[in-house]
Amino acid sequence: MERVTVNLRDRSYPIYIGANVLPEVGSLARPFGLSGRGTLITNPVVGQLYGQQALSAFEQTGIALTLLEVPDGEEFKSLKIAAALYERLLPLGLDRRSPIIALGGGVVGDLAGYVAATFMRGLPLIQIPTSLLAQVDSSVGGKVGVNLPQAKNMVGAFYQPCLVLSDVSLLGTLPPPEFRAGLAEVVKYGVIADKPFFEWLEENVAAILEGREEALIHVVRTSCRIKAAIVEQDEKDEGTRGVLNFGHTVGHALEAATGYGVFRHGEAVAIGMVAAARISCQVGLCSEEVPARLRALLQRIGLPTALKIQPKQLKETIGYDKKIKNNMSYFVLTKDLGSVTVAPVFDPLETLEGLSAT
Ligand SMILES: NC(=O)c1ccc[n+]([C@@H]2O[C@H](COP(=O)([O-])OP(=O)(O)OC[C@H]3O[C@@H](n4cnc5c(N)ncnc54)[C@H](O)[C@@H]3O)[C@@H](O)[C@H]2O)c1
Repeated sequence: MERVTVNLRDRSYPIYIGANVLPEVGSLARPFGLSGRGTLITNPVVGQLYGQQALSAFEQTGIALTLLEVPDGEEFKSLKIAAALYERLLPLGLDRRSPIIALGGGVVGDLAGYVAATFMRGLPLIQIPTSLLAQVDSSVGGKVGVNLPQAKNMVGAFYQPCLVLSDVSLLGTLPPPEFRAGLAEVVKYGVIADKPFFEWLEENVAAILEGREEALIHVVRTSCRIKAAIVEQDEKDEGTRGVLNFGHTVGHALEAATGYGVFRHGEAVAIGMVAAARISCQVGLCSEEVPARLRALLQRIGLPTALKIQPKQLKETIGYDKKIKNNMSYFVLTKDLGSVTVAPVFDPLETLEGLSAT
């Protein structure tokens, strides 16, 4: 089993990565002094597939978990569902060392993490991410939260888990479009921080898409290492963590402008990354090779890369981001593959408009 540590002083934690490692999660949790009663939060799809295995893994180490299901879907990452979970936790007689285990994709992880951060002012959280996006991104870094009807991820906390276990074998049941969407974030890590990893992805796309476990372990381990290093420098997202938003300014705007549900988040990010790389060329930061190689890799993965709508249709949504500062759109721009910088772009839609014909 591979181990990546997120070093955050007293909030440090290990991420264990391997194939067929779910049965080991109970023994991995032993050092954390958890009490014998806790909760497993999942959804019906993931619960049906892996709920029993996860329950047994904890049972073997003397931790009895109550399984609580939330409906499957982004719309259920809400305060209403969080409140329903509090109601169901109340009669269970939990104590301050009772763990909450999040078994699922990013929706379950964010929601269960938010409940863990807030119920009884904080219970130990264990993340068992089951989607690629959750294994490479959302389970790492401590952002937990729920959506408001008007805005995604508007209510939440920074709350680090005590342990993350990523079993790449669980990805075998993930619907292929979800798998591809998760790969957008993986490609992002190569672009923002690690050119050799980007090149490795170019060479190993086929093995990854075939689901070869060695390749998947390398993908998850490298992604977690990169994200951990960034989070370690800026846990609360006050500066350098912003580089993780590469591709997200246009991506979020596109998701919002098309009313969510048209594009998966990873698909919108793929389009946003190509747009950001093209803007980077336009302002003279990088060569044409960068967007060209990025686009080619994303297309081989099966992700969209063209904006598909007129840039001016993003006018209303491009600024609607809680990370906006001084009314300017800040973009993460590429200097080269593996190297980015954050800079304000005064007229990003105009720039995109100029590029849309090419
Ligand atoms: N906290 C963070 O830092 C962070 C970062 C990125 C994204 N997010 C959040 O993550 C969420 C998206 O996560 P997601 O892409 O995992 O979506 P998701 O949780 O909705 O999962 C996608 C679909 O795959 C199913 N699924 C998950 N694992 C499966 C498996 N092993 N086999 C079969 N089906 C499986 C789910 O039931 C769901 O239908 C968004 O809410 C986003 O805001 C959070």
